[in-house]
Amino acid sequence: MSSYKSLQVLLTSTILHALSAAAASSTAPTAALQSCAAGLNGQLPVPTPPDFEFSGNVRRYYVAAEEVEWDYAPTGWDNWLGVPMNVSPRADMAGANQYGTKWLKALYRGYTDSSFSTYSEQPAWQGTQGPTIRSEVGDLIEIMFVNNLSQNYATMHSMGLEYGKVNGEGADYPNNTMPGANVVLPESGAVPPVPQSGVGPGGCVVYKWMVNSAAGPNVGEPGRVHSYHSYVALQQDSNAGLIGPQIVYAQGQMNSTMANYREFPLLYMIYDESDSWLSAQNKAALGGSSHSKRNAQGGQGNRQGQNQGNNNNGHPQNGYQRPNEGSSSSSSSSSSNSTPTGTYGSPSASTVSASSSPSGSGSSGSTTGSFNIGNTNNLWSGNYTVWHPQIVNLAGSSQFSGAPSFHTMNGYIFGNNPVYEMCLSDNVIWYVNAYGSASHVFHMHGNGFTYNGFKNYAISVNDGVGKTLYMNATGAGKWQVICHVNNHQTKGMVSDYQVYFAGQCPLPALGS
Ligand SMILES: *[C@@H]1O[C@H](CO)[C@@H](O)[C@H](O)[C@H]1NC(C)=O
Ligand SMILES: *[C@@H]1O[C@H](CO)[C@@H](O)[C@H](O)[C@H]1NC(C)=O
Ligand SMILES: *[C@@H]1O[C@H](CO)[C@@H](O)[C@H](O)[C@H]1NC(C)=O
Ligand SMILES: *[C@@H]1O[C@H](CO)[C@@H](O)[C@H](O)[C@H]1NC(C)=O
Ligand SMILES: *[C@@H]1O[C@H](CO)[C@@H](O)[C@H](O)[C@H]1NC(C)=O
Repeated sequence: MSSYKSLQVLLTSTILHALSAAAASSTAPTAALQSCAAGLNGQLPVPTPPDFEFSGNVRRYYVAAEEVEWDYAPTGWDNWLGVPMNVSPRADMAGANQYGTKWLKALYRGYTDSSFSTYSEQPAWQGTQGPTIRSEVGDLIEIMFVNNLSQNYATMHSMGLEYGKVNGEGADYPNNTMPGANVVLPESGAVPPVPQSGVGPGGCVVYKWMVNSAAGPNVGEPGRVHSYHSYVALQQDSNAGLIGPQIVYAQGQMNSTMANYREFPLLYMIYDESDSWLSAQNKAALGGSSHSKRNAQGGQGNRQGQNQGNNNNGHPQNGYQRPNEGSSSSSSSSSSNSTPTGTYGSPSASTVSASSSPSGSGSSGSTTGSFNIGNTNNLWSGNYTVWHPQIVNLAGSSQFSGAPSFHTMNGYIFGNNPVYEMCLSDNVIWYVNAYGSASHVFHMHGNGFTYNGFKNYAISVNDGVGKTLYMNATGAGKWQVICHVNNHQTKGMVSDYQVYFAGQCPLPALGS
């Protein structure tokens, strides 16, 4: 079918683009990065919303979307039952042992500056979550975002802050909200306009988010959680892993809060690996299928050759050959410098099931649905910038129907998180977010917490919702913090936190 052919061409050119971007970026900063960095100009979006009063502070962040081999259980143990994963009946029941716990994911990773050469520091327990975007009420946030994925589109969409259409929303849809929907629009009618639409592989954009007072914490509280995520194909982007935390502080209180509280961004997320847009690559690597068609596609051989000699750390049991793997248990920053390798195939058109749906309107929310990307003739070239990024992201999804869902907190299952640590009597803030397609219940043993000033022992968080929970660490010991939805907890949403006894705390004291 000619439509298959055209998709293949699209994907192949995407891959070649990524290859040249990767080759060019070996000496940083490239001209492309430099010109993108020029967007970090401190200028407020125009029009500036009337409820935003600029304090004069501009906060800059450098974030890339990267392909990372993530290990949901880096200790190799079910630390709830206290047994190795491969003999844990709970891990078996959760499907965590069938294909192993190492999966290719797309994660946000922070860098220190616009050269994108050094990772910013991030605690290992923050896991799959992207870098924490911190700000104070009145700030302008400027984020230089680089898409370093090999094939997929990605954006950063803020939950909770203000932005303009052009530089801030990180979402593509037609600008047909004026009277009479379905009006004929030119390509320039896509929102945001063409240059800012879904960021393709090798692409870069500067987002500007404004921290208005409505985004700030409750009176009497110093901080409040928000989040950000990719908004190309929301479900598939989230399952791939593109989610991160934001914290907004009251004006002038960021430093003092960071110094006087233990802060823990905590993400409840069930990653459905069957509906990540990396499912085709994961299936090829983990599913044992040979996918010979994949090798017929241009570019794959080059990707393999590019990384030879780099896989000394490989985990052959999974069929992965990736640099730096296995390091995610010790340090998040060293875990993520992954390079696409030949082990992964592209979601070639031959692996995509062509349904007969004429509208191409999606997989109806089903985790195993098929999407009609076979016939892009149904889609108009006039709004290519709107539909093309979604088509590309959907191409890799729903390709691995037997893949498990990992019930995680910060990307860890069955107590595999580096323990959340605090000293007795410390002030603690849990910045809790939930994503995915299920609601969750934060609950911890040993200590209570307050939400909006009221005492609680358990609290629900729905998809896309963030809640800021304050805790006084009065109960010493090693305790569980879990999802109290029964079938989530039993499938792995169990983490550990530690309140050290008086006189035994190895952490630097707060306030110092
Ligand atoms: C959306 O359409 C309206 C009406 O045509 C126009 O005024 C506005 O500038 C458009 N917005 C963008 C971001 O293109
Ligand atoms: C999409 O493109 C077609 C063809 O150019 C046009 O008729 C249609 O109005 C466009 N739709 C939107 C929402 O832009
Ligand atoms: C907050 O901390 C940062 C980093 O240590 C420092 O550069 C900045 O000057 C501090 N701000 C205030 C208001 O103390
Ligand atoms: C992107 O990935 C390539 C390797 O695939 C790497 O060389 C490059 O430094 C990365 N960073 C950026 C900003 O492109
Ligand atoms: C923590 O202790 C302080 C001082 O006793 C009290 O004001 C505050 O309400 C407590 N917070 C929580 C979350 O229990």
